[in-house]
Amino acid sequence: MKYIFANWKANKSFSSSREWMEQFIKILYKDENVQKAIKEGKIKIVIFPPAPLIHPLHHYTLNIPNLSLGSQDISAHESGSLTGEITAQAVSELVRYTLIGHSERRKYFNETEDEIYKKILLAHKYDIEPIHCIGNIEDKLYSSVKYIAFEPVESIGTGMNMSIDAITIIKNKLNLNKEIKFIYGGSVNQYNCDQYLESDDIDGLLVGSASLDPLHFYSIIAKATT
Ligand code: PGA
Repeated sequence: MKYIFANWKANKSFSSSREWMEQFIKILYKDENVQKAIKEGKIKIVIFPPAPLIHPLHHYTLNIPNLSLGSQDISAHESGSLTGEITAQAVSELVRYTLIGHSERRKYFNETEDEIYKKILLAHKYDIEPIHCIGNIEDKLYSSVKYIAFEPVESIGTGMNMSIDAITIIKNKLNLNKEIKFIYGGSVNQYNCDQYLESDDIDGLLVGSASLDPLHFYSIIAKATT
């Protein structure tokens, strides 16, 4: 099983996100290989749109197995008078996964380890699978998390994707439990994804900028299913 995640970050509108989804599903339906892989559970695709676009996209995913939506973040607070917060409870019926601790949250929103831990607990409480993003080997790990997205800070959005050999060295140093799914992210695109897809050390990819165009994202999916 390969996990291919699309992190749209703070991009797209109500209409452009729907156009993306319609185009993407149309291409998926044309490709028998991809359809078969999806049905057989060889691939799991999760789209992480900006939070207000989750609901308008939700219905597109209902009839396609192994295509679901995720949240890019959740609040460290469960509920209350916290204007603007997006809680686990609010998204829990719409998403299966949430990213937690993405390095952009750590860097631009001063997210702390304490908040990350609270978010992980709340994700579990509301039956959302947390995908814990770590930017380097020093970041703390949490034993309840089943998905680790390793995204080297220097590789995010820079075009400097990390080599498979360097990733493997870091994975070995992390000494993760065998059941943990290890996802790589950082400047992955349709041209450089093969090395990661062929590796037994990597269970999936978290794709940022190359997921904004449905055709580019689809090319990665097509490669993951051949
Ligand atoms: P990128 O982003 O593919 O644009 O480098 C990946 C991520 O930050 O999730």
